[in-house]
Amino acid sequence: MASCMVFACYNIVIGIVVALGSLTGAEAKRAFFVFGDSLVDNGNNNFLATSARADSPPYGIDYPSGRPTGRFSNGYNIPDFISQQLGAESTLPYLSPELNGERLLVGANFASAGIGILNDTGIQFVNIIRIYRQLEYFEEYQQRVSALIGAEATERLVNGALVLITLGGNDFVNNYYLVPFSARSRQYNLPDYVKYLISEYKKILRRLYDIGARRVLVTGTGPLGCVPAELAQRGRNGECSAELQRAASLFNPQLVQLISQLNSEIDSNVFIGVNTQLMHTDFVTNPQAYGFITAKVACCGQGPYNGLGLCTVASNLCPNRDIYAFWDAFHPSERANSFIARKIFSGTTEYMYPMNLSTILALDSKN
Ligand SMILES: *[C@@H]1O[C@H](CO)[C@@H](O)[C@H](O)[C@H]1NC(C)=O
Ligand SMILES: *[C@@H]1O[C@H](CO)[C@@H](O)[C@H](O)[C@H]1NC(C)=O
Repeated sequence: MASCMVFACYNIVIGIVVALGSLTGAEAKRAFFVFGDSLVDNGNNNFLATSARADSPPYGIDYPSGRPTGRFSNGYNIPDFISQQLGAESTLPYLSPELNGERLLVGANFASAGIGILNDTGIQFVNIIRIYRQLEYFEEYQQRVSALIGAEATERLVNGALVLITLGGNDFVNNYYLVPFSARSRQYNLPDYVKYLISEYKKILRRLYDIGARRVLVTGTGPLGCVPAELAQRGRNGECSAELQRAASLFNPQLVQLISQLNSEIDSNVFIGVNTQLMHTDFVTNPQAYGFITAKVACCGQGPYNGLGLCTVASNLCPNRDIYAFWDAFHPSERANSFIARKIFSGTTEYMYPMNLSTILALDSKN
């Protein structure tokens, strides 16, 4: 955990700066809202009747409580590290009964494992919170906060907040490529499917703006063909699945184009593209540079690359989670999440388009 300790120290420094800011009344803490899928779900699915859940050991083994929380990680996920960068506590799942009173002012996490851009993505998981429902919950949240602090202060809180949205991976893995000859793959060839996804994503981002979001981190998909699950099911001799790599390579650049287009329509840099494909590819091509012994084998799982089935108490579990880029067949380890969050904070324009989070925080503190 050495690197996490360094990271935590760094966050303590930021935390002190933020605390001083609020002492002088110069800066209230910024709220944080999270939308999307399992990469960013902090536990909403624990409250739902669905098979898409991370509520049993060894999930959470490295979380401070040592217990599963619903996060698809051995410990913290990306939103947790971003909360730390904001000097704030982690956002609670919107469905958590503990999310009330003052705690609402920290923000909320609306994400739900299994969902996608499309309403028909993840239908096999039955009761999950699809993206339009997450947006409705965001409006409901605003009404609840309004009752607490008034409409004007609520609008300020929402407009001043940081937002993270992570969608798209499941539209490939749990829809188009879920089964051979899936309905969507019979309807569209891959390039046309990607265009359709982007046009639907545009409506979602537009709606997010319309209901108050003003700084939105939009992540692309990772290198979908290189996750342990795909290496186990589709890869030949440990090579990434060409078809899923192609999907990610078509989707991500068009997402960046969409972001530019929306920002110019709005005439403000509301949407910020996060190049998670490149961030992950860095681990995949040179795991040792990050202190990982592998970016192919999952820490928890079974079969080739530990990439088959679910991560459960009966799975193989690596003794040291910090030296694996992947925690389970699809999700990064806590340590990989910390590296991704650091790139979000201070990455170059190659990683963060048009600017990184540290620049956003500096810009917005001047307003
Ligand atoms: C998805 O569902 C929402 C509401 O539940 C609806 O407004 C939207 O049009 C649907 N999208 C598509 C592409 O059918
Ligand atoms: C990103 O963050 C660092 C500070 O951590 C800053 O020096 C750099 O200029 C930023 N890059 C961009 C492109 O905003």
